[in-house]
Amino acid sequence: MALPPAFLDELRARTPLPSLIGRKTRLAKSGRNWKGCCPFHGEKTPSFYVYDDHFHCFGCGAHGDAITFVMRAEGASFPEAVERLAAEAGMEVPKPTPQEAARDRRSRDLHAVMAAAAEAYHRRLFLPEGRPALDYLLRRRLSEETIRAFMLGWAPSGRGAIAADLRGEGVTEDQLVEAGLVRPGEAGEPPRDFFYARVMFPIRDRRGRVIAFGGRILGDGQPKYVNSPETPLFRKRMGLYGLDLAREGAFRGGAVVAVEGYMDVIALHQAGFTGAVAPLGTALTPEQLEELWRISPEPVLCFDGDAAGARAAARAAETALPLITTERTLRFATLPSGEDPDTLVAKGGPAAFQAVLDAALPMSEALFGLVAGGRPATTPEQRAALRNRLTGAAGVIADKALAAEYRRVLLDRFFASSRLPQGGRPTVRRPARPAILEGPVRAERARMLFAILLRHPWMLPQVEEAIGLLDLPDGPSAHLRAAILAWHGTAERLDSEGLIAHLAECGLEDAVAWALVPAGLPLAARAEALPGEVEEGFWHFFLRLRGEADLIEDQQEARRILAETNDPAAQRRLILLTEALDAVRRGENTAGASGDAA
Ligand code: UTP
Ligand code: MN
Repeated sequence: MALPPAFLDELRARTPLPSLIGRKTRLAKSGRNWKGCCPFHGEKTPSFYVYDDHFHCFGCGAHGDAITFVMRAEGASFPEAVERLAAEAGMEVPKPTPQEAARDRRSRDLHAVMAAAAEAYHRRLFLPEGRPALDYLLRRRLSEETIRAFMLGWAPSGRGAIAADLRGEGVTEDQLVEAGLVRPGEAGEPPRDFFYARVMFPIRDRRGRVIAFGGRILGDGQPKYVNSPETPLFRKRMGLYGLDLAREGAFRGGAVVAVEGYMDVIALHQAGFTGAVAPLGTALTPEQLEELWRISPEPVLCFDGDAAGARAAARAAETALPLITTERTLRFATLPSGEDPDTLVAKGGPAAFQAVLDAALPMSEALFGLVAGGRPATTPEQRAALRNRLTGAAGVIADKALAAEYRRVLLDRFFASSRLPQGGRPTVRRPARPAILEGPVRAERARMLFAILLRHPWMLPQVEEAIGLLDLPDGPSAHLRAAILAWHGTAERLDSEGLIAHLAECGLEDAVAWALVPAGLPLAARAEALPGEVEEGFWHFFLRLRGEADLIEDQQEARRILAETNDPAAQRRLILLTEALDAVRRGENTAGASGDAA
């Protein structure tokens, strides 16, 4: 609905900018104008200026008028911002034409039907018939508060339940069909429920109005989710699950992050990541990217750590490239393979997902790997093809200056890639520095590390170089290291019994006993731990024994190698390094109990 320009001009004239903006950030007079700290990016010295009719931030480039300000500061749509400002200015927003009004009324009615349906499903979740569904959600670690915030519900298995629930509210059968809640009956049959025996996830629009549902089967079975059909309210390509809550979360400073599934969004919100959203079972569309950019200039897209995830990331980059500008771009985060955000948070808590976010790559850095796609580029033909793909990708960017920058960054990397070694896990090459951490915490971490090695000496070939560089406290761990490395040079088989027997012969029985005291030992130090668990445990303790300066260098190298190769092992290593660095910076004063046997 287009509004007359004269109305908008008057609205702007009647809205004093300093008082509107002064509610979000403190402004001080600066000559004829005002200045303060920019409400859109974190800054300590003011570079945000407010003039008569517009604002401008010299720090982040934010720029606009009163309407833009409300849109950005409150995540409001254009009509919403206008409505809000008009109410404050005592003006009335011009009415739409009769046709527009009729369409609005009809969709308002449908919104009421959907709201009533969501409430009815939600009520049934707490009835005895909904008990198995409620138990299922609780078993999946959702709190009752979360269940209520997302208004999860239960569609029972009997016929006609939703119609019966809504009949009392005056909802007609035609409306149920139009809302996608029932399918018309064939040949005189009564209409059939669209959702039955499913856990219900109301899908809400940006303003929090229910526009559709996703229904999940209880437990395993196919199809796992069914979604509402397209209706006058619901176009699948447009919606984002969790958007209404994420707008708030974003305004309060939460990172906007797009993940894959409904359950991921919910688990992330519950873990404090209130900017999480998901598309509705499809790849991200341009429309959905636009929605994300309305609430954040640099949302993070989060993908699985497997080949399918890499393909999805490449597809998202392809969709986004023509749309990015100097003001709006993306970051790419990759999950450890085999995890989704829901399982990751369940296992590692919010810190595990935070580490994934912290390791996200800016578009400009991720793009090389996404375009290269893990394919070899060694022959002249392959390299020329890659180079063509890289310049092609940059060429798709509409902003000419930005396209030129991308082209330069991609080609720099392209030429550098012929000189750099390939490969996933970077080795640690530099001499060790004096340790930052001292004392018992450090000794305990060293004990964990050697307990893992004593049980799993098969790791020695891949970790020998790294442990050689560790700065170990004087005492049993240093003695164990020397003897273990010497044994590795001569041993025929890298087995635990052989190693322990050898150490006993060298007079290190006490040191072995010290390392293997069971209390506090991680899962990785158990004989039956799986190889992946062992490696993860080893690197966890190893990284916590390294100093911050070393970690920062390791992290930079890992980031470079990841951008270079887009290899899942490199990604995994970057996440571990980022976690370790966060832990060191937090001054984590425990041994760092990764996979602890509780
Ligand atoms: P997932 O299978 O990853 O779902 O599919 P999930 O949210 O993690 O669910 P849980 O943890 O198994 O309960 C990702 C998304 O793909 C869509 C849904 O939007 C889902 O959230 N999807 C998946 C469907 O639309 N239909 C399906 O049958 C499966
Ligand atoms: Mn899941």
